[in-house]
Formats: sequence, structure tokens, C-alpha cells
Amino acid sequence: MRATAIQTLAAAYREGVVAPCAANELADHIWPFADKVAFHQGDITKLEVDAIVNAANNSLLGGGGVDGAIHRAAGPKLLEECRGLNGCETGQAKTTKGYDLPAKHVIHTVGPVYSASKSDESARLLRSAYRTSLDQAVRHGVKSIAFPSISTGVYGYPFESACIEALSEVGHFLDQKGQGDKIDKVIFCCFSQPDLTRYRQAATRVFPPEDMHSQFAEDE
Ligand code: AR6
Repeated sequence: MRATAIQTLAAAYREGVVAPCAANELADHIWPFADKVAFHQGDITKLEVDAIVNAANNSLLGGGGVDGAIHRAAGPKLLEECRGLNGCETGQAKTTKGYDLPAKHVIHTVGPVYSASKSDESARLLRSAYRTSLDQAVRHGVKSIAFPSISTGVYGYPFESACIEALSEVGHFLDQKGQGDKIDKVIFCCFSQPDLTRYRQAATRVFPPEDMHSQFAEDE
């Protein structure tokens, strides 16, 4: 599926597919980018975007979950290129070609293994994984990028908290001049329908419709 075929959150509001959240449910920081973020349910390896993000491990030599799916779909040349990358630290990201994937690039990042006793550190590293992936995207001229829900599978990050961290870090990045304005579309790719519903729900708290922004600004 092409990036342009995936409905933005702004379009989903307009068409009544997604209802805005109540004003008292808005996140601490809200961002005016509902026209740049989009949500999709399905297999990330099928997306025709400039880059897909891989939720990899420190070795960058493949694994299970979305990492396994990406390596299977991209073919053995991906592993060959990954061998030359010398691994990747948690919270960092490195870029390869997409090989047999419809995506031009794969941005490999490593999210944290969630620790309830160090939840602040887990959040910091998760946000860093999103931010460094977007840095890589800008560096490689990527306009459309799709993320899986990093760390929410094998690495055990609670889904709702991971959504809010991911969405607010992406909002923050899109707001940066000379960086965020170079990205046209950020797609959050969810493997299951329940995950899609929960992700979009979280997004209404971070990326409300335009009229809620003006209302919010007037209230301040
Ligand atoms: N397309 C989109 N999302 C997917 C797909 C897919 N094809 N497959 C799984 N997901 P996980 P992590 C979702 O476990 O928690 C690997 O072994 C899945 O439902 O893939 O960051 C690596 O090598 C979940 O929401 O990544 C690491 O060792 C999300 O992707 C470790 O797992 C992330 O789940 C990384 O763990």
C-alpha cells in the first residue's frame, strides 16, 4: 500500500472515522500535525514508503517479531548490509537499503527492554529511538516513514504508555524547523485492529483537530 493511500488523522476527523477526545483528556503537550500523522493496520513490510523502521536488537542481525518479518521480506542482502554496521546502541538508529521490500530504506532502531522499576529511563530510551530514527530519515531524504510500535512486543513496554511517548516525541520532532518540516507523513503501523484502535485513541490526545487548538489557545 502506498503512503498516499493511508488516511491522515486530520482526514479521519473530517470523515467522522475518529472522534476527538474530550478537552480534559488532552496530553500535556499537543501538536498541530494531525495532517501529517496516519494510522494503518497491517504488515509493515507491505508498505510502499520511503522508509520503514525496524524494531531491532543491539546486534542488528535479525530476530523475531517485526525484525524477523522485515528480514524475511527484504531478503538476504539486508542481513549482509547489517553485518557491516557493527550493531546499534539502545535508543540509536542506523539506515540500510530496503532490498526486496517496497520501502526504499529500512531504519533500524533499538528500543529499550521495558523496566517497571526504571520507567523514566525506559521512556527516555523509547523517545530516543523515535527521534534518532527521524534524524536518520531527514539525513536520507525520506519524506514518508512508517513505524511499528517499538518495544511493545518481546521488549514488554506497556502499549498505551508507549503510544503516548511515541506520539509526543514525533510531534516534538515535526515541530522543529529545518527538520520536521522535511517529513511529509509519519505512519504508525499497527499489527492488530485492537492496537490500531488504541493507538488512534492515544493520538486524539496528542494531535487534536485544528479547531481544538484554537479553542485551547483562546482558553490560555
Ligand atoms: N508489521 C507491523 N508490526 C508488527 C509486525 C509486522 N509484520 N510484526 C510484529 N509487529 P516486536 P520489540 C508488532 O516484538 O518489542 C525482535 O526479536 C508487534 O505486534 O517485534 O521492540 C528483535 O530482534 C508489536 O506491537 O519488537 C528484538 O530482539 C511491535 O511490532 C526484539 O524483538 C513490536 O514487537 C524487539 O522487541
